[in-house]
Amino acid sequence: MNIKQQLESTIDSALSAAGASNCPAIVKQSQKAAFGHYQANGVMDAAKQIGMNPRELAGTLVESLNLPQAEKVEVAGPGFINIHLDNSYISNELTKLRKDELLGVVREKSNTTVIDYSAPNLAKEMHIGHLRSTTIGDAAARILEFLGHTVIRANHMGDWGAQFGSLLAYMDLIGQEGQELSTELSDLEVFYRKASALRESDEVFAKQSREYVVRLQNGDPQCLELWQQFIEESVSHCQTVYDRLNITLTRADIKAESSYNDDLIPVVNELDRLGLIEVSDGAKCVFLDGFKGKDDKPLPAIVQKSDGGFPYMATDLAAVRFRAQNLKVGEALYFIDARQTLHLRQLFAISREAKYLDESQSFRHLPFGVILKEDGKPFKTRDGADVKLADVIEEAINRAYELVSVKNPGLADDVKSRISQVIGVGALKYAELTKNRTTDYIFNWDTMLSFDGNTAPYLLYAYTRIRSIFRRSNIDPSTLESSITLKEPTELQLGLKLLQFVEAIDAVTEDYQANILCNYLFELAGIFMSFYESCPILNAEGPVRESRLLIADTTARVLKQGLDLLGIETVEQM
Ligand code: ARG
Repeated sequence: MNIKQQLESTIDSALSAAGASNCPAIVKQSQKAAFGHYQANGVMDAAKQIGMNPRELAGTLVESLNLPQAEKVEVAGPGFINIHLDNSYISNELTKLRKDELLGVVREKSNTTVIDYSAPNLAKEMHIGHLRSTTIGDAAARILEFLGHTVIRANHMGDWGAQFGSLLAYMDLIGQEGQELSTELSDLEVFYRKASALRESDEVFAKQSREYVVRLQNGDPQCLELWQQFIEESVSHCQTVYDRLNITLTRADIKAESSYNDDLIPVVNELDRLGLIEVSDGAKCVFLDGFKGKDDKPLPAIVQKSDGGFPYMATDLAAVRFRAQNLKVGEALYFIDARQTLHLRQLFAISREAKYLDESQSFRHLPFGVILKEDGKPFKTRDGADVKLADVIEEAINRAYELVSVKNPGLADDVKSRISQVIGVGALKYAELTKNRTTDYIFNWDTMLSFDGNTAPYLLYAYTRIRSIFRRSNIDPSTLESSITLKEPTELQLGLKLLQFVEAIDAVTEDYQANILCNYLFELAGIFMSFYESCPILNAEGPVRESRLLIADTTARVLKQGLDLLGIETVEQM
């Protein structure tokens, strides 16, 4: 339990002892020093429930609370409880924390969670839009694993469907013309555009494309072989992007749409047996209460098209069925664009009706907004095409290289390259993670690469500054043995902030808003800078010097661990 939870649970017990049930205390960190370190809310609701004056109830609680971590507990305002932690408590806890590999995290019970993220369509190259799901989903996976849970990464890649018809027909054409396929496929985006253009302009080609779709669906071997070749090319392109972005996804995490092909007919049959299917305009649909379109008309979810083909919904139902029944997971998190909200609401509702999901299983959509250009318009190239993710990564690294060259021209070239890789990719991902997940955001190179403000370069720089203390003094922090004693106000502030690392991580998992962790790290770095200015480290003496070195080292470790949970690497100098 983190400090906040410990306080909450103690106050909760006191509240129920006083006769108020179901009135949980809500403890928050206070921003103003006068309020102590934490403030508890919820006493007023409890007082109302048991018909007592809130200040009076708060008063009795303060008398009876057993909080060894607090130096002072007092009633404030109309019925808040302010808690001032004891300095020696903070010092002792920090001494424990610094010896703890997990920096305060206690791995209590382990759940298994499927995380559905990234999931690009393989017919095209990954574009900037994939940055969000990929980055946010990966951070969620890292955080849950750090907390001791088992994560099943599910890369639901789009590798099936009508869009492959023209691609396969085009591969066939290239083969017949004797051109080198691998050269043609080296730019998937161009390849896709050429194939689409040909389908638009050439009747015969368009017909062949349609035939290819049918042949693919019927499992024609020559066609499957071409398809396999294309998929292989596209997957390896994605893997390159993941590796460059320091994303933990591997080939083993791919469970693409086509892997559910054999489950689609059984799914539709099962829905039919349950009486959920209605045929509308030749298509098999599920109509559920609560889904109304324009004019209050019932809104169908199509599970099989009139031509017999299976849409996105059918595959997703098969995926829920697999995850819930075969993998038997208690939880699944879907990091998908907010524009697919209706799709996911229908998906989960049908899955409940079909009993693929039982009461205990929580399948959630964690939506996110889109990335916009400076002018607030969707992020596209001048000719309206998607901006390739690989190009964005390259530009981020190049821009970081320029910055590093100006800041530290003396560095060797390979060192500069390594640093700019970390800063560029870090800046790109951090810009993503600092935003509120659910809203659209404007992409801006200058802001994300700035050394001021809540950015990756700022945090990476703060980290290198701490590391340089140890480098300059030739001290290996792992050899320091003494305990931490906090006295000065900024020291105490920093100490408490370090103890709150676990609180920040726990808070992220409530709604997978990684920005809570970003803000925490940003504040931590800021408090470190004030500590650094007001408390000499290397010039201090004896136990104070040792203690401050330990505080600095613990700060560096928390920064590094926090960044790692966000999928951001660190460097030792920059
Ligand atoms: N391939 C889809 C797209 O690009 C995203 C898939 C997300 N996952 C899912 N289970 N539907 O829009």
